[in-house]
Amino acid sequence: MNPAEFLSVIYARHCQRAFTSETVSREMLEAILLAAGQAPSGKNSQPWHVTVVTGGKRDQLSSALCDAYDGGVKPKPDYDYSLMPGPEQWLARARNCGYSLFELKGIARDDIPARKAHGRENFEFFGAPVHMIFHLPAGSERGNFLDMGMFMQNVMLGITAHGLGGCPQFSVAGYADIVRLTLGLDPDQWIVSGLSLGYSDPHAKVNTFVPERLALKDFVSWSA
Ligand SMILES: Cc1cc2nc3c(=O)[nH]c(=O)nc-3n(C[C@H](O)[C@H](O)[C@H](O)COP(=O)(O)O)c2cc1C
Repeated sequence: MNPAEFLSVIYARHCQRAFTSETVSREMLEAILLAAGQAPSGKNSQPWHVTVVTGGKRDQLSSALCDAYDGGVKPKPDYDYSLMPGPEQWLARARNCGYSLFELKGIARDDIPARKAHGRENFEFFGAPVHMIFHLPAGSERGNFLDMGMFMQNVMLGITAHGLGGCPQFSVAGYADIVRLTLGLDPDQWIVSGLSLGYSDPHAKVNTFVPERLALKDFVSWSA
């Protein structure tokens, strides 16, 4: 295998937040998920589960989530994903990322209706024809979430390798009860994240957004 070619897939994967309506074939989704299942996990426990949502169910889920968002329902995720408390740099990076995205989309920081509309796009799945819900058994431990993260990254790389785009969404996990109810999932399933995916809209400016990354020296220490 050519390492540069493989790494180029990693570099090419950035969140896509606008899609065409072109459907994605079941065969392609199965190939991506089967490959993603090769992810490592503690003692090969493979704790991940994913529900693939398309068609009428996708529309029903999106509409239920939009209703909750429009109605000001307070998100109540099954687990914490907070930057607080955390190192101040984490918060600074998050702010910088958010404001850069607003700038690209022409949203002024004090334009509350535009910011609200921007947030709502999460629940419209950015127009993507496919939405995946990743779930774990309730009570899962940090290590199980680590395994799930590896699986999810594999899914995203598989998506990229197939010429598709996607965006993972904790925002969707904020409405865990609605997700469970709409998809008929057991209450003993924790909703970890959503992921919208499809063919990226090549004309959408938002899809050119690539937030800054740290330099090697800022996140690597060598010990010999
Ligand atoms: C677990 C997880 C949840 C995320 N949730 C959202 C989300 O709800 N909405 C969104 O627009 N982006 C979401 N993102 C995307 C991040 O903002 C994005 O990965 C980060 O800014 C880096 O950008 P890049 O992936 O385009 O390189 C999420 C990413 C991860 C890993």
